[in-house]
Amino acid sequence: MTSRINTILIIGATSGIGEALVRRFHSLGKKVIATGRRKDRLDALAQELQDLDTRQFDIADLTCLAPNVDSILKDYPRLDTVMINAGVQRSYSMLDPSTSDPEVIINEINTNLTGPSLLVRLFIPHLLELAKAGDKTNLFVTTSSLAYVPLPFYPTYCPSKAGVHTLAKVLRQELSFGPKEAKNLNIVEIIPPYVDTGLDDAHRDHVTNLQGGPEKAFPAMPLKEYMDKVFETLEQLDQDGSFKREIGVGLGKVVEETWRGSFEKVLEQMGVTS
Ligand SMILES: NC(=O)c1ccc[n+]([C@@H]2O[C@H](COP(=O)([O-])OP(=O)(O)OC[C@H]3O[C@@H](n4cnc5c(N)ncnc54)[C@H](OP(=O)(O)O)[C@@H]3O)[C@@H](O)[C@H]2O)c1
Repeated sequence: MTSRINTILIIGATSGIGEALVRRFHSLGKKVIATGRRKDRLDALAQELQDLDTRQFDIADLTCLAPNVDSILKDYPRLDTVMINAGVQRSYSMLDPSTSDPEVIINEINTNLTGPSLLVRLFIPHLLELAKAGDKTNLFVTTSSLAYVPLPFYPTYCPSKAGVHTLAKVLRQELSFGPKEAKNLNIVEIIPPYVDTGLDDAHRDHVTNLQGGPEKAFPAMPLKEYMDKVFETLEQLDQDGSFKREIGVGLGKVVEETWRGSFEKVLEQMGVTS
């Protein structure tokens, strides 16, 4: 892991999983650039963690993505790892329009799927160019076990995360048809289970009640336990020095293995590597 990552950009790094990733990579001596919308949190992190760099931008503001990526690549021409982790989750019912707002739904799709797709398009040429020159490069995307196993409480979150999960597979397929040096670029899908962060603060109690109360509701994994498992998997490089294609933990591991045990075989029969 250590040699595959030197300079890492973590998009969506001001709280929860992203902030924990920043802290771990920083403690390993990596050059870390953290982003998010909340400037106060970026400033607090930069003050605490020596040499941490930050960039404030909103990935749902689609017109700002290209100038931000240009500026980042100008300042960090050796950037070898991009982690697209930002995400939001809303809970409402598609059956009752009074529980949702079209602007909020559009923002959720833009944050979780459109923004990440455009960011992939903007960063891939840079990562591929370094890869062709022989450097190891990495693109991580954070999806969710809910990308594979949808729940009714999240009618936009689940499909938007399913979209990013599919995008990760398509990217790997495209790279498999590319030049042989494209192997130096790893596409890694991070598939968290339900983890205890602020992601669902606004609706946690409501969803817990819908599941029949705290005794019956699906429990959240403590953040530290989750991060320990992520870094355990990051250390398990394949024989050729690549990261595992998925970093699934808990239910995330179950869905990863189920996909590989079923749909991967269908694609292999078509001659497609995912
Ligand atoms: N916690 C879980 O149970 C769970 C399970 C599966 C997958 N995930 C995924 O894990 C990722 C991290 O979530 P988390 O649980 O750590 O929740 P979190 O604490 O709410 O973190 C979300 C991060 O995304 C950033 N973000 C949100 N909207 C953004 C925007 N428009 N532009 C830029 N940054 C934005 C937030 O920063 P700002 O607010 O400062 O912009 C924050 O840093 C998300 O993609 C989430 O979907 C979480």
